[in-house]
This record gives sequence, C-alpha cells and structure tokens, in this order.
Amino acid sequence: MNTTVTAGTAGVSERQTATAPQPAREDTAVREGVTVGMPFADDPKFRLRNVEVFYGVDRAIKNISLDIARNEVIAFIGPSGCGKSTFLRCLNRMNDSIDICRVKGSLQLDDLDLYDPKRDVVELRARVGMVFQKPNPFPKSIYDNVAYGPRIHGLANRKSDLDDIVENSLRKAGLWNEVKDRLDAVATGMSGGQQQRLCIARAIAVSPEVVLMDEPCSALDPIATARVEELIAELSESYTIVIVTHSMQQAARVSHRTAYFHLGHLVEVNQTDKVFTAPEHSLTESYITGRFG
Ligand SMILES: Nc1ncnc2c1ncn2[C@@H]1O[C@H](COP(=O)(O)OP(=O)(O)OP(=O)(O)O)[C@@H](O)[C@H]1O
Ligand SMILES: [Mg+2]
Repeated sequence: MNTTVTAGTAGVSERQTATAPQPAREDTAVREGVTVGMPFADDPKFRLRNVEVFYGVDRAIKNISLDIARNEVIAFIGPSGCGKSTFLRCLNRMNDSIDICRVKGSLQLDDLDLYDPKRDVVELRARVGMVFQKPNPFPKSIYDNVAYGPRIHGLANRKSDLDDIVENSLRKAGLWNEVKDRLDAVATGMSGGQQQRLCIARAIAVSPEVVLMDEPCSALDPIATARVEELIAELSESYTIVIVTHSMQQAARVSHRTAYFHLGHLVEVNQTDKVFTAPEHSLTESYITGRFG
C-alpha cells in the first residue's frame, strides 16, 4: 500500500485536537472527537468528518473523523455494541433502510458527498459493495447470483460478456473450480463457506471500488476462513476493503490499519502491527489483552 497515513493532528479534527491534548497512555477516558494514532490519509478514498449516527435519540456514533486510504484493508474492532456495524453501514448508506436512523457529518467518497439527497443509492452501492455476516445468496442459480448485479446495471450487452464476468468474478472469489460444472445449481444448496465466497463474487461482479465486510467469516470453519482471508489479500490489490471482525488474529492477518471503537467513539487508529504490539491508548490495550470485550 503506498498511501500515506497521517497522525490525528492533521485534517478536520484540528478543531478538537487544538483544544484537547491527546490522552496520556494511563488515561482510560475517551475524549469526544479525539482519536489517537493515524486516522488520516493523503488522498483518501473516504473522507469522513465529525460523523454522528442516531437511532431515535440514542447517539450510537459520537463525532468520529477518519480517512480510509485507497487500496488499504482497514479492520474495525471493538466490544459488541460499540458501533462498528453502524459506522460501516454509513459508507454505502445501508443505514437508510433503518427508519429511526439518522446520520450527521461530512462523508465523502472521492469528491462525492455520500449523503447528497440527489445521490443515486443503487449506483453508490455498486461502487461500494457489501458482504454480510451471514451468507445471503438469492434463491437462484449460482450463475444468476453473480449475473444479478451486472444485469441490473447493464454491464454486459451480450451473453458471452456476461459469461466472462461471471467466470472472472468466481475465479477472483476462489470458487470457479468448485462450481464451474454446476453453474445452474441452486446457490442455497452450497456449503456455508462456498455461499460466502459466492456472495463475495456477487459483490465484485459489478466492479466495485470498495468492499465492506461485516464479520464475513463468523459463520465459517477455519479452512473456509483461511480461503476468505487469502481472498481479501488478493482483492486488496484492486479494491479498498473495510472489514469488521471480532477476531483480533484475523485483523492482524489481513489488515494494514486497525481502528478500535469503544462505546461509539473511535479511540485509536494505527498500523495494525502497532495496535497489536504497542497500542497508544490504554483502552485499546485493555481490549487487545482481553481485559474486556
Ligand atoms: N436498528 C437499530 N435500532 C436501534 N438501535 C440500534 C440498531 N442497530 C444498532 N443499534 C444500537 O447501536 C449501537 C451500536 O450497534 P452496532 O450494531 O453498530 O454495534 P457493533 O459494534 O457492530 O456490535 P456487534 O459486535 O455486536 O455486531 C448499539 O447500542 C445498538 O444497540
Ligand atoms: Mg456488528
């Protein structure tokens, strides 16, 4: 990854960092809007500033600012309920489908305002694809699952073009050899690990720029998990990947940077090896050493 990430004193949080010194290592308090480490990047894919998310009157995300670099794999970790999925869903407006959910702040993908009311959300989700915790193939054939997105977005004019997209996507997802002779079989009859790789193939079939993954391996056995992790490494050559995981080993294996969330705050973002060997914030340290979570 050649994008430079920069310390928390850069970017829009100047307002907060100018007035609030970074917490000392012993300090277990979280200062709102202050993230220790390297939350910013030069020329980011996502530029997220002062993001807050409410469910009704409850504030689930508390003034978070973060850049996500191009072609980086960034892992979101933290205790259950700290807001990882909520923050992830902001990145392709998946929260729109939750009636009581309201998102505030500035969220940009390249130069686009993600929350511009005129934004075509279907088009946005083709650029920012998502893979969920539980594989959710459509009750259609393997072929039709992968062809679904390219068809609705008009990406293939001829059957042979569509065949190529389906084959390439299944190859990239590491599934082609297992399914090439049964593309007409119904997808829901595959194993869990195969279904998850099919969902990844479906997500990448529309050539997204970003893939969001919310605990993509939590329902998989170690072999299927290893296959998906290999895939993440391969995909990171062409895509930006944001992965939520409860497995710190997984975050350590697949990500360049790791972001630690706590009660709706973004406490620390740093290079992954630093987070796991020399965390800057005492809350991060408590979490990675298993003192809570
Ligand atoms: N649809 C919803 N309606 C109301 N509150 C919600 C909704 N989804 C999440 N929340 C609340 O927002 C907070 C953050 O939840 P979120 O699901 O983002 O956490 P998480 O870090 O992904 O947790 P987990 O690791 O358990 O998946 C929690 O307090 C949760 O109860
Ligand atoms: Mg979650």
